[in-house]
Amino acid sequence: MSLLSVCTTETITSAAQSLQKGALVAFPTETVYGLGADATNESAVSRIYVTKNRPQDHPLIVHIHSLEAMGEWAENISDYAIQLARDFWPGPMTLILERSPLAANFVTGGQDTVGLRVPAQPLALALLKAFHDLGGSGVAAPSANRFGAVSPTTAQAVNEEIGQYLDETQDLILDGGPCLVGVESTIIDCTGKTPQILRPGAITQEMIEESTGLEVDQNSKGNAIRVSGALESHYSPKATVILDALAEPGDGFIAMNTMKTPNGAIRLASPATVEQYARDLYAALRSADEQGLSKIAVIQPQGSGLAEAIRDRLKKAAHNGLDFSPEAMP
Ligand code: TXA
Ligand code: MG
Repeated sequence: MSLLSVCTTETITSAAQSLQKGALVAFPTETVYGLGADATNESAVSRIYVTKNRPQDHPLIVHIHSLEAMGEWAENISDYAIQLARDFWPGPMTLILERSPLAANFVTGGQDTVGLRVPAQPLALALLKAFHDLGGSGVAAPSANRFGAVSPTTAQAVNEEIGQYLDETQDLILDGGPCLVGVESTIIDCTGKTPQILRPGAITQEMIEESTGLEVDQNSKGNAIRVSGALESHYSPKATVILDALAEPGDGFIAMNTMKTPNGAIRLASPATVEQYARDLYAALRSADEQGLSKIAVIQPQGSGLAEAIRDRLKKAAHNGLDFSPEAMP
């Protein structure tokens, strides 16, 4: 039996039943594909860690079908967190909140907070609703890649990343086509007086400030909270990523479509907009590895908002490479 199945009403219902039985289901969201398990089932959740080769103390995001389910998983929710949920859910935003007893240590990595998200992908929402109708509370799902690797934005990429570690007799990969946003959700810590961005994404600082009427807290909490995406090296392809330098012959090259491909370089993406840049980036990094390229030169997008999220991921992808971007210069 193949792990991959196209999303239909039937496959979604049977995927919800699989989740209920403790199986793993990889599913599309608008950001990246997630590797899901019943967030209240310890042995199912522990299989996520094994499949990803992820350290046990890294917390998982619990995906819920609607804002109403927030109160099951979180307590003492601030007014501004509710405002954010109203304005941006379903959407590419994860809220970090004080956890309820339902959010066990095996989901939160032992922290007293829980990450919650209502995704905006119709198939993901249908799966979460079907799971809820079967009595389920939420689906814990990290990005469906091996720890430290590039997040998958297609079902085929999920299969290449983790297919060999799944159990074909019970687990599933739902194919809902390529993800529309392409970079992971904005993570906002809502446990303080004002919101703090832990990971930038498509919901931008400007949008958060406009929604809440509050200034976003810029003070970094350092390592107090374990966000694996906050590790210096993450989102990395096998090829070395070099930022803001031109490609040499044989190198991969990613830049906006207004930039010409340097002689002999292999063009991996030429997005026309920042949105398209985000959508194409991970597939482009993956294709460099598929082609066996050893180096990728990336000209980063400029500006705020989603461009910042792209630069955040690229900086981590380039951790072992050279960074010629202005911020990296002494
Ligand atoms: O767009 C996304 O957020 C995707 C899709 C599948 O929803 N998920 C995703 O999950 O990117 P993951 O596990 O790859 O990244 C989630 C990040 C991790 O770095 C984790 O440490 C952090 O969220 N996180 C989860 N719960 C947290 C908590 N209670 N406090 C602080 N960080 C948390
Ligand atoms: Mg991830």
